[in-house]
Amino acid sequence: MPRIIYKTYDGTRHEIEVAEGTSVMEGAVQNGIQGIDGDCGGACACATCHIQVPDQWLAMLEPQSDMELSMLDFAEGVGSNSRLGCQISVSSALDGIEVLLPENQH
Ligand code: FES
Repeated sequence: MPRIIYKTYDGTRHEIEVAEGTSVMEGAVQNGIQGIDGDCGGACACATCHIQVPDQWLAMLEPQSDMELSMLDFAEGVGSNSRLGCQISVSSALDGIEVLLPENQH
């Protein structure tokens, strides 16, 4: 299974194996990673799965949908590397991806 590295705001790294087809948000929630809430269950309707993705990985992701872009308006501390974890589907191409979790959601 692809490995996702969740890096929390305090610098702690959690390397987790996540099944292909699972979202980055689901991988965090299912493994008890603090820092991603996923309140809407992945419906792109809450923005509590806000993450930052380093440039080298950002280029490998599908572009943001209009819905994801508009939901990010509700997240705190959004930057050019911001994404919603529920909108990123894990695949073998993302093996080893590092995602940075914000200090808090909203
Ligand atoms: Fe709600 Fe991602 S889990 S927008």
